[in-house]
Amino acid sequence: MSSDAITIRRPDDWHVHLRDGDMLKAVLPYTARVFGRVVVMPNLSPPVTTVASALAYRERIVAALPTGVNFTPLMTAYLTEATAPDEIARGFADKVWVAAKLYPANATTNSAHGVTDIRKIDAVLARMAEIGMPLLVHGEVADPAVDVFDREAVFLERVLAPLMARQPALRIVLEHVTTRAAVTFVEEAGPNLAATITAHHLVINRNALFQDGLRPHLYCLPVAKREADRLALRRAATSGGAKFFLGTDSAPHPVKDKECDCGCAGIFSAPNALEIYARVFDEENALDKLEAFASVNGPHFYRMPVNRETITLTRGEHAVARDVGSVRPFLAGETLNWRLA
Ligand code: DOR
Ligand code: ZN
Repeated sequence: MSSDAITIRRPDDWHVHLRDGDMLKAVLPYTARVFGRVVVMPNLSPPVTTVASALAYRERIVAALPTGVNFTPLMTAYLTEATAPDEIARGFADKVWVAAKLYPANATTNSAHGVTDIRKIDAVLARMAEIGMPLLVHGEVADPAVDVFDREAVFLERVLAPLMARQPALRIVLEHVTTRAAVTFVEEAGPNLAATITAHHLVINRNALFQDGLRPHLYCLPVAKREADRLALRRAATSGGAKFFLGTDSAPHPVKDKECDCGCAGIFSAPNALEIYARVFDEENALDKLEAFASVNGPHFYRMPVNRETITLTRGEHAVARDVGSVRPFLAGETLNWRLA
């Protein structure tokens, strides 16, 4: 492997927001250009709660694909307090969805239909444990009494540890980890717990949100944390360890919905996510671990084969677009030093 080019198995994105309608059409090509499979978040409005709605959404995604692209959307179910165990199990058996997503109610964008108390979905979670269906977790408490920057750490103690004790066979992905506490928690847990890490949380800490003024395009949930947390994430991602894998959490919102009185949470990284991960791995002298993180650990956890195709990244400067339609991409206007060949 020369230091100016790296060829890896085609990567997958295990956490992405593809949206719907015109936004879907605008953002999907950027994700499909790079990733072979993606785990599609179900927080549409209304949310994807039924097998029928997941099937219909998958069809809209496939219809929006550029022609000739080999790309598989892996759908997820949005868990509510009314979710029936049979519906979840049926969608999994019929291969309509690969996992179910837990949004604590009101923790983030379109989570109002989420779960107020995880004990209310015990029956669904027990069924998922039985059939080996992964639970994807937005790991933040929504309790307004808890400091925003502590919400992930408190979730580990209050919700995740007790859940794992009740359902030790349940396979869980702690999504978009942002803290050293979460990294340690995942490392110390058994093989049924894994985590995704975004590109942006490897690049920014919470200072970046306020650098020279308020930076709405760096606001996402969970919000970026301290520098020590960012460094822990970089160590985890670049370790090659099987419990950590790529999930961009690319979450586009129109600029007008970010730059306003009550701006939406979400960072749109899809146009350059892989190039940004490559830069981080290069900075950490760990390009040899990029394939494990981007292309191997995820499919192993989801019990799927790795992709057969390969992609090549080459060293070379190029600028991130200022705008992609109505959306401002992560690191807009900045120069990256890796590009997809
Ligand atoms: O920043 C975020 N944006 N975090 C989430 O959990 C949801 C996402 C979105 O859908 O915009
Ligand atoms: Zn997300």
